[in-house]
Amino acid sequence: MLDDAPPSRTTISSPPDGGRHVGPPAQLGPPPGAGDRDRRLYVAAESALRANWRQGRRRRDGTPYAFTCPAPPRYRHMWHWDSCFHAIAWRRFDPARARAELRTVLRSGRDDGFLPHTAFWHWPAGWRRAPFYATGKVLGSWFTETINPPLLPFAWELVADASPDHPGFRDEALGALGAHLDWMAHHRDPDGDGLLTIVAPDESGLDDAPKYDAVYGRMSHDRLGYFWLMERSRRLGWHSHTIIERYDHHVEDVLVNVAYALSLRAQGRMTGDPVWADRAARTERALLEKCLDPGTGLFLDLHGPDEEPVRVSTWSALAPLALETLPEDVRRRLVEEHLLDPRRYHAAHGIPSVAVEEPEFNPGFDRWRTWRGPSWVNTAWMLVPPLRRLGYEAEAARIADGLAFAADRHGLREYYHPFTGQGLASKNFGWSTLLLDLL
Ligand code: GLC
Repeated sequence: MLDDAPPSRTTISSPPDGGRHVGPPAQLGPPPGAGDRDRRLYVAAESALRANWRQGRRRRDGTPYAFTCPAPPRYRHMWHWDSCFHAIAWRRFDPARARAELRTVLRSGRDDGFLPHTAFWHWPAGWRRAPFYATGKVLGSWFTETINPPLLPFAWELVADASPDHPGFRDEALGALGAHLDWMAHHRDPDGDGLLTIVAPDESGLDDAPKYDAVYGRMSHDRLGYFWLMERSRRLGWHSHTIIERYDHHVEDVLVNVAYALSLRAQGRMTGDPVWADRAARTERALLEKCLDPGTGLFLDLHGPDEEPVRVSTWSALAPLALETLPEDVRRRLVEEHLLDPRRYHAAHGIPSVAVEEPEFNPGFDRWRTWRGPSWVNTAWMLVPPLRRLGYEAEAARIADGLAFAADRHGLREYYHPFTGQGLASKNFGWSTLLLDLL
């Protein structure tokens, strides 16, 4: 508990079990007592992860890499948050690969602590999509200059917990992980309120979520103007403070900040240094004080210099459920009034990425516009364990079961239709293997 925290809504508590999101798997191999369906999913998950594994040395400088690409042929590179999720999934099958993938993520950026959204380990960004990549130069860059939800320290701790025979892993990179969190604070929190800012919609990983429509307009992800959004940042050398000062197209994004708080907490536990927990509490308090909308109980992104709330309900508004430190009444409200409400996020298969009642809700496939309705496994992976902890065991099981049914029938797809369970977009999608943690 923070001494200076007011007692009610803004109270940040210390969770009794240290606030870990999920525990280490009880064992390697299928979940104990697994039935036929769950055994089939286990086999499918391991084979997807193995098929998508890539390992080698970067041509430019011989740096070794080992990671899981999300889903070839569409997603062949290394994405930051995907790789964090992949490592969390790998810990159940092959913790050595989980450790290797996280070490690769840590090597993907610069020594100053910057870690990119995407790293092009096999070959530099190619000509066809090059102008649309958030790179330093139009051609020949080996990684983007943008960020992704900073989940690395959070994933590191989960993988360390699952590596009892490699006790050194937990401590081997604490300095570099801390430098990464510091980079975020120095470069992406110019107003010093504890909330990180994104300067492009896909930095949150929720590329085309309707919450960004009004903010980015014609510069939205996969619209033609997105090229200009990239180009003008390139011309400013991707200097975050200048971009944020000069243009209003930036967002203090709830999901990104939930990831940040989770990682700050994990870093605190791994180092034993209370400074990280203080920083986490600051971010959590800012989410409560600035993003929590008293009318709806949702956590809303803040747009531009005046921190205007973005009034669109996407699953990111529920992501603070994963912060066990937030007051219980605030978390229960998210569950009761949103997650379990059929007008909003209650569906047969997973958790829709946008509230069903939003005008932009679109549950089907759209090649160019993602995160506008379908259910993704990482969303359920973030929200189901906190739901269980609040005592909604039957609802948690229902959500996991609806997704497992869809994955068993249609394979581990990139996302699913929340009403029919139809598998959509890429096949053998890496982070969909996280489903095993929910069964
Ligand atoms: C899509 C998703 C993004 C993910 C990437 C790689 O762009 O929107 O969240 O990181 O694919 O899987």
